[in-house]
Formats: sequence, structure tokens, C-alpha cells
Amino acid sequence: QLVLTTLDTHGTIADTRALTIPGTSQPAASADAQIIVLGALNSLDSRQMIKYDAHETLSHVLTPEGAHIALEGSHEARVWAALPAKGDGEPVTPAQLKTLVGDETAKIGQGRAFKNGWIAKEGNGLVKSKPAIEDTTQVELRQVDSTGTLPSGDKGLAELRKRKLIVQKKGQWFTVHKGPEFSTSTAKPETDLTVDMLTSGQWKTSKFKKYNFEAEGIYPNGGALHPLLKVREEMRNIFLEMGFAEMPTSSFVESGFWCFDALFVPQQHPAREMQDTFYLSDPVKSLHPPKDYYERVSKVHEHGGYGSTGYHAPWSDAESHKLLLRTHTTASSANMLYKLAARCRGEQIEGEEYDFGGTSGRVERKEGLEGATDGFRPAKLFSIDRVFRNETMDATHLAEFHQVEGVVADRGLTLADLIGFMRVFFNKMGIKNVRFKPAYNPYTEPSLEIFAFHPMLNKWVEVGNSGMFRPEMLAPMGFPKDVHVHGWGISLERPTMIRLVYGINNIRTLVGHKVPIESVEKAPAVRF
Ligand code: PHE
Repeated sequence: QLVLTTLDTHGTIADTRALTIPGTSQPAASADAQIIVLGALNSLDSRQMIKYDAHETLSHVLTPEGAHIALEGSHEARVWAALPAKGDGEPVTPAQLKTLVGDETAKIGQGRAFKNGWIAKEGNGLVKSKPAIEDTTQVELRQVDSTGTLPSGDKGLAELRKRKLIVQKKGQWFTVHKGPEFSTSTAKPETDLTVDMLTSGQWKTSKFKKYNFEAEGIYPNGGALHPLLKVREEMRNIFLEMGFAEMPTSSFVESGFWCFDALFVPQQHPAREMQDTFYLSDPVKSLHPPKDYYERVSKVHEHGGYGSTGYHAPWSDAESHKLLLRTHTTASSANMLYKLAARCRGEQIEGEEYDFGGTSGRVERKEGLEGATDGFRPAKLFSIDRVFRNETMDATHLAEFHQVEGVVADRGLTLADLIGFMRVFFNKMGIKNVRFKPAYNPYTEPSLEIFAFHPMLNKWVEVGNSGMFRPEMLAPMGFPKDVHVHGWGISLERPTMIRLVYGINNIRTLVGHKVPIESVEKAPAVRF
């Protein structure tokens, strides 16, 4: 405010050292005062209210010893003050002087006091030889302290420097002019454009702070993996440990054919309705699936075959060609199983090389079968990826989530193999207690729901779904008759959420914009 009012009355400030310290009549000449002035100038300059030029000075400040002398007087003055005037009491002996003024002052002060003619010897002692003295050292130091220099000039300063009573110090002073936004008011400019300002029209007259594009942002502490990604990694490791290969699952958009038809899901199944599945409006139609296979699939749906009676409902090409967001990763499994069957027949598929994983262990146990000549090789495949369902969102449901899915293809696999796999898999996740309940899936028979005992909820909770894929699905793909395929699927969110892993009871605290970032940063690294 002082800078602004001074500028207002004088137009410019030639030397900020001439400003009077507010509340005193002292000029702001010291280096410390100029540092305060500089702070004010920078703040006003950032708002373009003023412009300033800086000038360097070399000034002097007191050393601790210099400051002591400025306060108490020089050693010689203190020696003089301690002595009696001539003829006015007992002279002071050198030993007495030491106890009066201290060893150092007695030593340094005596010599100088003699040299100045301030004291004299009398008998064994010392007395004042002058009734009054002028302690120039103290006077000069006080001057340096308040002005940073001496009116007598460089010689005196050099002398004080030599005596180590003062040292040189760089300082600054400033010339100040009005800036384009000059005003005597220090009211802060606006930093936000608010709805209120827009509706009231206040924005037209408001002053806004300029953007500072040079300002550094807040450094992030570092990245952190989302809990779901950590659990995904652990699930992936379990699969890899068990000899599974990961399926490609990048196709979030699938056709009705791969998501449902290939899996023998009837075209009239309620899960295919709009309220359960998201369909695409652009493009509306998928590419045509492999022709022969498509024919075999539509035939088994409409008329049956391979020992099945089929659905005996009219087949719709349009339904099959609809594009949708896949509702389960079993769409990808179906696609990979088709490729596996094609590979067995020696067919070339899209020039790509796929890894179909290791054996289930079944081949080695079943004598005679490994010599089969149909080219089939067992496969163990898994995937962990996103699926979409047109669900009403609540504490436990989102419109998109992740499925963890495994499929095993081998000769003569039985339900016992599926249950065995399941037990090993969940055991590795730390879920020791599992139970199975008969269920229904259009593409598996038998089907089993998997339940795990939840120690904190003290009850059995559903954790997954599984089954042996139906011949109506496998035979059109071209698998040999004795090749059986079983599969299971669980959601990634569920075990992550239901306290089995992280102790979260609302899906929204795990996924979405309401997730507190600290909870992600602080989530344990490994849970199984
Ligand atoms: N696709 C099933 C689901 O979405 C899971 C599953 C996969 C069931 C494989 C059986 C076989 O719940």
C-alpha cells in the first residue's frame, strides 16, 4: 500500500531506500527493509500494477563482535569507564582491571586507551587522564548498523573491516514506476470465473488474475496399481502356474453369433434381449462368420443333430449378425475353441499362431488315446477381461465388470476333472472350502454353480459358474467325439470386493470416479 500511495502522489519512486518505514519516521534503508520491499514489488508486479528496476549495492553489516561494541562500547572505552578520575580514589591495578572488565577487554582496551591518551599510570595502578571521551568506534558502528555505510567514506570502513567489526554485504534497492494495471487498491484479482459472475454480468467488470504458464504443477507421489489389476495379476499367475495359456480377448464388440449362437444359446433366449445386452447401432451388422461352421451352427439350432433334437425354432440371420458388447468372455472362449478344432484338422486360421496351453494330464492317464490320429491336441486356456451387461447399477452391480474364465479341452474329460480343477484353482486363491450346486447354462450340461464359505459373512456365497460344454456347441466346431471341454467363469470384482480380498462392500468404492485415490495407493500389494 505504501508503494502504491507513494507512486500515486509522486508518479515514480526513484529509490526505495528513501521510503519511510510505516509507523515510524525511519527510512527503509537497511538490506532487511529492502527485502520486504522486494516482496511487495514482486506481488504488485505479478498483477501488472507496477514495474520496477533493481540496483545492486555493496553495504556493510556488523559482525557479532561489532554488534557487541555498538551496544556496550569499545574495549578502550570500557577500560576508561572502569577507572577512577585522577585524584578521585585509589588507582586500579592491572589485576583488578581484569576482574572489572574481563581478560580480553582489559588486554585489548588498555593499549588503545593509552594510545588515545584516555588513561594514565599512577603508581602501580591506572587512572582516567580525560574527564570525557568520544567513543568513535561505537559511534561509527552504530552508523554502519543503521545505514550500511559511513559518511566519512571508505577509509573508515576499511579500518572497521580490518578490525573484523564489520563485513561487506550485497544489497538491492529499486526504482518503481506505475504498471498498466496501476491502482491504489490492493484488492486481489479474481482467480475463478464462476456461474454467479456469468449470470450477474459481474464478469464484465471483474479484474482477473493472469494465467501463470510457468507455474510448476503439483508433483504426483508416483503411480499405484488399482486393486483389480493386482488381483488380476494374481489370478493370471495361478493360471500360468497350472499350465494355461492366455486367450486373446481384445474384441469387446462381438456378434450375436460368437456371443450366443456358437454357444447354443437359443436365439429367443431372454439374455439376448435389449434390456440385458447392449447392442450397437453403428455399425449394425457383423462380418459373416466362417461359412461352413455358420451353417452347421444354424442347423443344430433349428433342426438338431449330433444326437440332439435342436430348438425347432426358426433361425434368424439378422439375430446372428447383430453387433453387441460381449456379455461374457465365453464368446472369446468359443472363438478359440473353434480355432483349436480347426487346427486339429490342419486348417490354417488367419495366419496367426496361437498358444493353446499345456495338457490337462488326462492324455497320459488314458492309455492308447495319445496315439489317436485325428490331430487333436489338448488345450488349457484362460482369459481375464471386461464384459458388459445392461444392468441397473447398485452397490454390487455395474454395467461393466471383469470375468475370469478357464477352459480345458481333452479326451474323455469328466465332471470329476472339472470339480478337481475347481478345487485346486480356488485353493490357490486361498478359498479352501468349495461346494457345487447343479445349475443351468444353455451351453453346458451338466452345469455347476460354485459356492465358497465366507468366514466373515459366516455363510456360503456364490463365487462362480461352470460346466461341461454341450456336444451341440463342440460338434459343429469339428472336435472328435471323445474330446470333452469344461470351463468355468468367475468375476474379478466379486472376490476382490467381498472381503475375501479387500474388505469393500460397495462396488463404487472399487470402480469408478468415486474411488478415493488414497485407497488405491494404500491397497496391499498381494492378497492371495
Ligand atoms: N459364461 C458364464 C457366465 O457368464 C461362465 C461360464 C464359463 C460357465 C464357462 C460355464 C463355462 O457366468
